[in-house]
Amino acid sequence: MNDPNNNANNDENNEKNHKRGFGFRLLGNPKLRKAVRIIRNNPKLIINAVYSFFICLILFGLRFYRFLVIADFGSGIRKARKSKLEIQKRLYLGGRYIGEQSGNCAYMKLSENSTCRIQGRVKLGPGVRVILEPGASISIGDNTYVTAASIIHCASSISIGSDCAIAWGTTILDTDFHSIVYEDRKHNSISKPIVIEDKVWIGCNCTILKGVTIGSNSVIAANSLVNKDVPPNSLVAGNPAKVIKTNISWLV
Ligand SMILES: CC(C)(COP(=O)(O)OP(=O)(O)OC[C@H]1O[C@@H](n2cnc3c(N)ncnc32)[C@H](O)[C@@H]1OP(=O)(O)O)[C@@H](O)C(=O)NCCC(=O)NCCS
Repeated sequence: MNDPNNNANNDENNEKNHKRGFGFRLLGNPKLRKAVRIIRNNPKLIINAVYSFFICLILFGLRFYRFLVIADFGSGIRKARKSKLEIQKRLYLGGRYIGEQSGNCAYMKLSENSTCRIQGRVKLGPGVRVILEPGASISIGDNTYVTAASIIHCASSISIGSDCAIAWGTTILDTDFHSIVYEDRKHNSISKPIVIEDKVWIGCNCTILKGVTIGSNSVIAANSLVNKDVPPNSLVAGNPAKVIKTNISWLV
């Protein structure tokens, strides 16, 4: 119910503020007061906003105003001259995830002739490192997030679909770095592409190795090591990971 006395008081206050001038009217604005409250409770917001501004200015020059990268202070993107970073919507670097398990900074390194495509809104959590070696390419789909202290190391190609959840401590590695030489193996390729299709949930502390395709809607149980393809809609677990259940799906 509207209280007529209250309305009268509000009118009186509005009139007073109006007489006091523009500054008082501005401070009386509920949206502005809410913004001030948010900033007061999170003073780092301003630091991060300024930091993100400089990152965008350095990376995108005059197109900085699109704020394609929002970064926590200390996060960084090291980009070689001939590398490409394409961001369709926004890339979030760092932040706080699940009880601040690690520092706030995420880091991305693009070596020469490498390409990183962010095909939507993507979050790389605190402590996450994404490394692209020369000529490598990574693409990450919309609405995918990688939480604390995961590592994505790419020497050839890694494709991660949309709506994927990659939990902390996970390593995605498309290269062995060294070759093993033994007689019965003629073609020991050191690097092979990894494909993670849409809506895959990778539990914490998993390892995904070279040449693997993980089908859409699958779940990789915590602490699994995946070195073979995973069919869509399956739950796999263990080291090496084996299919435990089929025809599953999961909810975000
Ligand atoms: C994948 C997961 C969600 C499955 O949970 P669930 O549906 O309750 O699965 P169940 O406990 O019924 O397990 C089914 C079978 O898989 C086995 N299993 C489950 N997780 C396993 C794991 N990490 N490693 C090895 N085996 C596992 C179980 O022992 C069980 O085997 P059984 O049928 O022979 O007894 C859960 O095991 C898991 O890994 N949770 C961690 C998720 C995570 O990391 N979240 C981080 C935030 S994104």
